Amino acid sequence: MIDAQGRRIDYLRLSVTDRCNLRCLYCLPPTGVQPKAHGDILRYEEMELLVRAGVLEGIRKVRITGGEPLVRRDLVQLVRMLSRIPDLQDLSLTTNGELLAEVAADLRKAGLRRVNISLDSLDPDTYRRITRGGELRRVLRGLEAALAVGLHPVKINVVLLRGLNQHEVDRFVEMARSLPVAVRFIELMPLGEAYRRHEDYFLPVQWVIDRLGPGWHPVPGQGGGPAVYWGHPDAAGTIGCIAALSEHLCARCNRIRVGAAGEGYACLSRPPVMEFRSALRRGADLTTLRMLFRKLVASKPAGHAMARRHPALRRRLMAKLGG
Ligand code: 5AD
Ligand code: SF4
Repeated sequence: MIDAQGRRIDYLRLSVTDRCNLRCLYCLPPTGVQPKAHGDILRYEEMELLVRAGVLEGIRKVRITGGEPLVRRDLVQLVRMLSRIPDLQDLSLTTNGELLAEVAADLRKAGLRRVNISLDSLDPDTYRRITRGGELRRVLRGLEAALAVGLHPVKINVVLLRGLNQHEVDRFVEMARSLPVAVRFIELMPLGEAYRRHEDYFLPVQWVIDRLGPGWHPVPGQGGGPAVYWGHPDAAGTIGCIAALSEHLCARCNRIRVGAAGEGYACLSRPPVMEFRSALRRGADLTTLRMLFRKLVASKPAGHAMARRHPALRRRLMAKLGG
């Protein structure tokens, strides 16, 4: 699908649950948020039909997100269903990694290609503080399992947080040297909880780039995503930087999002513009769903305007969209 700005949209991020087993302090309030009723969440059969329609409209990459996707029961089954869709070239998952060790092998067998693991600290206490109770050991076990079963490439997403994990940047760079992973530093976006604390925590990725030692040099990225990559002759992995706040990224935006209740988002920074669920439950066929995809793509804005900090951004909950 080509949108009004001439961008090719071939990437769908599909949230499978709005629940999360963590409450990262920049993402959720300490008490969490009220999850949607089970009946409002799309069933796997509904998601499969939806993805089939998207693929017929040119979607080639699907990423499963949450909430935390691994808290949804039997996610392996959905992976199996989606991986069988012809012409779907890339099926991946974004997870906080806490529950990954137990299912990595089954996910791989079911047809998952690769994972992105969100990991904001390599220090157990800091990790617990940022995630409000997460256990670093579990995530590291999940990472190990992902590498062992051949989910490749593994990407580690680190949201840069001034004064919280800033002092760990060198450790993360070290991680990219010793492990075959892409460690990606992401700028904090002023969405949801992060809207209020943005000035306290925001750290530009340029800060990381300025600290990279000798030998690190730009390398081409894969897949046309928003990250810019650096490599090093002695490194097993790479470093990536995502200048999330920069609107230059929007010019290359290739994605749409569907929330767990079937709501369609044309942009991360905007409210949903349509919903697939009622159509699905009225028994819509592929033709109708394809038309809804075209409508969604047609409503993509040119840019996110996040730098202007519109107060409505406070209501955009990353926890419900998985980035
Ligand atoms: N800005 C940038 N990244 C965020 N994430 C969650 N909230 C924000 C935010 N405000 C990240 C998570 C995870 C991914 C799903 O999105 O840390 O890596
Ligand atoms: Fe943290 Fe992701 Fe859960 Fe938000 S959705 S609380 S960022 S693990």
